[in-house]
Amino acid sequence: MYRINLLTSLVLLTATGAPLAQESAADLIARRSPVIEKDLSRSINTIERAVIPASSLRVLAKELQLPIAELAAIEFYRANLSKTGGSQYDALIAYAPIKQISATGRLVLTMKGAKIDRFTLWGNDDIDVDPTMHWGAFLSHLSSTVRGHQKRPDGESVALQPSQRKLAAAILRQRRAMANNRQFTTAMRTLMRNDQLPQAAWFGRLVKGMDHLSATASELRPVLTEEAMEPFQKHAKAAAAAYRNMHEAVNKKDLPAVKLAYSALRKTCSACHNTAAATDSENTLFDTFAPHYQKLAPRTLRMAVGDDVVPALGDQETVVSQATATALRAIIACQRHVPAASRR
Ligand code: HEC
Repeated sequence: MYRINLLTSLVLLTATGAPLAQESAADLIARRSPVIEKDLSRSINTIERAVIPASSLRVLAKELQLPIAELAAIEFYRANLSKTGGSQYDALIAYAPIKQISATGRLVLTMKGAKIDRFTLWGNDDIDVDPTMHWGAFLSHLSSTVRGHQKRPDGESVALQPSQRKLAAAILRQRRAMANNRQFTTAMRTLMRNDQLPQAAWFGRLVKGMDHLSATASELRPVLTEEAMEPFQKHAKAAAAAYRNMHEAVNKKDLPAVKLAYSALRKTCSACHNTAAATDSENTLFDTFAPHYQKLAPRTLRMAVGDDVVPALGDQETVVSQATATALRAIIACQRHVPAASRR
């Protein structure tokens, strides 16, 4: 049985403030709780609906430049949860419909304070079964993007000089290529353990990313020093070649050849990351870029595909990836305005 707070009753408002439909908080909780429990694999001990005041929603809609109805459609709950056989903990649950997936498409996540805890996406065969792990890898990319952003200092971005702007764009593009690489290796960890093949459709973006990185390496100057330029381009080309070889092996369903190409790829990752930034420097390329990224990257969490996030590996149209990223951005911004739990 769920312990339900019956005092809050819910009125859904349209943008003009007129009642659209009415469902009591108790009814909504009764309808959602089993879904949420299943989606999060957590049991709900207590749950209470938390409604953001309409005045805050209006401010948030303006700040996020999103329709108010889209924000009002996100449901927040304060809950006490437990893992099977585990201890209890308090969490904020956010349930956001993602209609780009299907009529029941949804993102369900829990937060402990401002920290993302569980994070799941549901609503069609590809996503629910996720046999090649590309949605799982995408969700972990999204939550690490949020975590990375939360570590950066707040405040206005400094206006960039034209020369800095070019470097900033190149660094951001390199980050996107790395985010694709990371999604791929995240998915591959599970796939290789189970002797499963990745999808052939993934490789176009991966090959292009590494080819492009080697062709435009000069735009990363001066962070990428003249000394490091040659090894950098060599490793980027080797990574693109390993992706090409793997693509070919996937087409032939040749698992041993896929494994071979994958291990060649992993060598290029560490070879490039560990390249010395310069002969007289102890810093690797991996460490050298981070402070520049912190300085030059936009301070706002944009969660825009092709900007600070990349789509799921198999999501060619990128519509679901963008809708999910937008919902996450909205949840992160709204979370600060969710009323505290009532005394129970
Ligand atoms: C051509 C060189 C090169 C290759 C090859 C390369 N990387 Fe990177 N990678 C970098 C550099 C440089 C950085 C630091 C960028 C920064 O901090 O903005 C980086 C950073 C990263 C990051 C951290 C980015 C972040 O958002 O914190 C990840 C993850 C990553 N690489 C994964 C990979 C994986 C996986 C591979 C192999 C499939 C790979 N990289 C291959 C150069 C490379």
